[in-house]
Amino acid sequence: MTNRYAVILAAGQGTRMKSKLYKVLHPVCDKPMVQHVVDQVSMLSLQKLVIVVGHGADKVKSQIGEQCEYVLQEEQLGTAHAVMQASSNLSDKEGVTLVVCGDTPLITSKTMEALLLHHEETGAKATILTANASDPTGYGRVIRNKEGNVQKIVEHKDANEQERTINEINTGTYCFDNKLLFQALNNVSNDNVQGEYYLPDVIEILKKQDEIVSAFQTDSFEETLGVNDRFALSQAEQIMKHRINKQHMLNGVTIIDPGNTYISSDVIIQQDTTIYPGTVIKGNTTILSQCEIGPNTEIKNCSIGEKTVIRHSVAHDSSIGNDVTIGPFAHIRPASTISDEVKIGNFVEVKKSIFGKGSKASHLSYIGDAEVGSDVNLGCGSITVNYDGKNKYLTKIEDGAFIGCNSNLIAPVTIGKGAYVAAGSTVTNDVPGNSLSIARARQVNKEGYVDRLNKNTKD
Ligand code: UD1
Ligand code: CA
Repeated sequence: MTNRYAVILAAGQGTRMKSKLYKVLHPVCDKPMVQHVVDQVSMLSLQKLVIVVGHGADKVKSQIGEQCEYVLQEEQLGTAHAVMQASSNLSDKEGVTLVVCGDTPLITSKTMEALLLHHEETGAKATILTANASDPTGYGRVIRNKEGNVQKIVEHKDANEQERTINEINTGTYCFDNKLLFQALNNVSNDNVQGEYYLPDVIEILKKQDEIVSAFQTDSFEETLGVNDRFALSQAEQIMKHRINKQHMLNGVTIIDPGNTYISSDVIIQQDTTIYPGTVIKGNTTILSQCEIGPNTEIKNCSIGEKTVIRHSVAHDSSIGNDVTIGPFAHIRPASTISDEVKIGNFVEVKKSIFGKGSKASHLSYIGDAEVGSDVNLGCGSITVNYDGKNKYLTKIEDGAFIGCNSNLIAPVTIGKGAYVAAGSTVTNDVPGNSLSIARARQVNKEGYVDRLNKNTKD
């Protein structure tokens, strides 16, 4: 089998994005564009993957990690110049090299595999992936000769009026015979409108050397969308969103309004879960079967068990069990562990806390830095007073404890197993198990007081 290599071009600044963030790091469905490309390319079996970095090199490298080789393009003199930077990694290798732009986040491994197969079957020395664009503005155009074979690529800015009417575009993805590629790159000039070394010029150079040059047209222009500005970024987002949602639906997830549901690329959702409109699910999130999520819910980096219901709420970086109900209007902040059958109700905020099985905080509470046992009932308005302005302290509420409404538990403090805290208490000392703590002023009724008051004021 032929050796296969790949080069991803990711050195550009992305001037047209008008952004401090380097172009290839702009996210599409919560994942940087270049990461989408790397993930898809990595599904092909390759001997080597080389990434050309320049602007934001360190950031791009730390995003992608150690799984590939990096070369630095110090000055961005064009796409041909970019590929040349990989010369010391690749130029002496026998095989086929796939070149992909880091700003085409929708390209799939399936299409790249088809391109590679076509290239290998035709015996071509270069094969260019083309597509028909209804609006080809900005793309390089594919110029074919009378026989219909690819002759060369002309960049939009260099194209004459007649060439600009051509709808077949260069998608920026190609395969080359590796050795011929690096030889041809030496002959690319920068004699063009932009004064850059264009990679597509390699096509014409090889053609003039009488090598076989081929084109492989994909019928999905969408997949080859190049993101140069924020408008194209929004188009990529739409297409990727549709693709992700469709895949979940085909896997057995009900999405009530896919146009208004935002799920990141790497989220896992099991079947018979229903996602209601206005829901955003991000990061490294897993949701098991038969859950109901949303409407209007934001979840990031959470693992969620089965049959859990989360409505109108926010949950981040936490673990949530089976048969849990959360919301409406609850906030689960990072490092929380919510066990099975827990109820977190209206206007309850939980931070860095553990809730044991079956415990409830149904209304209007703040529970932070707390270890709540199982079957605990936190009455309406219960608050863990965890912060003294300098440090945070732990509140422990042991199994089966009952915290009356509107209580303040001033940490560090422990409420023992099965203990009761009377409503309205401000608890500063530990409460032993199975005891009742009343920490509030005793009620005094002054009978007839108002009558006496009224009488005095009339005099
Ligand atoms: C390029 C192609 C064009 C094609 C289009 C497809 C060239 C000259 N033109 O145009 O034919 O239709 O892609 O989307 O190749 N980059 C570097 N170093 C550089 C220049 C660019 O690494 O010196 C990287 C960029 O980061 C980007 C990619 O190469 O990821 C493409 O560069 P870009 O400037 O976006 O090229 P286009 O004008 O879109
Ligand atoms: Ca581009």
